[in-house]
Amino acid sequence: MKNTKFIVVEGIDGAGKTTICKYIMSLFYYFSIENVIFIHEPGSTPVAEKIRKLIKFSKEEIFSKETELLLIYAARLQLLDNIIRPKINTHWILSDRYDLSSQAYQIGGRGINKKNILFLQNFIKNNIKPNITIYLDINPVISLQRIKTRQKDRIEKESIKFFSKVRNYYLKIAKKDKTIKIVDANQNLQTVKILVKKIITNFIKFSRI
Ligand code: TYD
Repeated sequence: MKNTKFIVVEGIDGAGKTTICKYIMSLFYYFSIENVIFIHEPGSTPVAEKIRKLIKFSKEEIFSKETELLLIYAARLQLLDNIIRPKINTHWILSDRYDLSSQAYQIGGRGINKKNILFLQNFIKNNIKPNITIYLDINPVISLQRIKTRQKDRIEKESIKFFSKVRNYYLKIAKKDKTIKIVDANQNLQTVKILVKKIITNFIKFSRI
């Protein structure tokens, strides 16, 4: 998209997205960029945060993959209408997850048919694409080891097999899309930060021309 400054960080649970998003925020500060909006998905509006809780913590009854999908897109629509669309032309937007998560988790992980996602993207009129996506690629054996002491939510409780499918789908899409930068997140945090800094610094310099 022309002139927009929309950065997304992606990866399976335990890849280090939260730490890297905070690091990117510190880079914005370093470059004196103040008009930044930091969001996460699903969530970031009052209604979308309620939906996030349902997605992550519902355990009262059977929760189908179709329900999960519809809730995720309902949350994304709230975010698009209330934050992204109104701010995309005036602000830098940094998002912890976005539509690529739905492709990787719902198509790759859950086995939802791609045509249903295409329908929903169209239905919520999601024509806003990130300018750059940093995909933190990690072996699920390592990521699950990292989050093993965490109180796990409904999705984090999934198996290594599930996360392997999610990872493979991320990689499949990332290899075809030049706006997605694959960062090897199996390495130590310092090395990952150096790689991310290079990508973000280039993007900031390019965007300011
Ligand atoms: P996550 O971003 O990992 O939150 P935390 O900061 O607590 O680690 O949690 C969001 C969960 O929702 C994560 O397990 C992935 C899942 N998810 C999907 O399955 N599809 C989506 O489209 C999105 C945005 C998230």
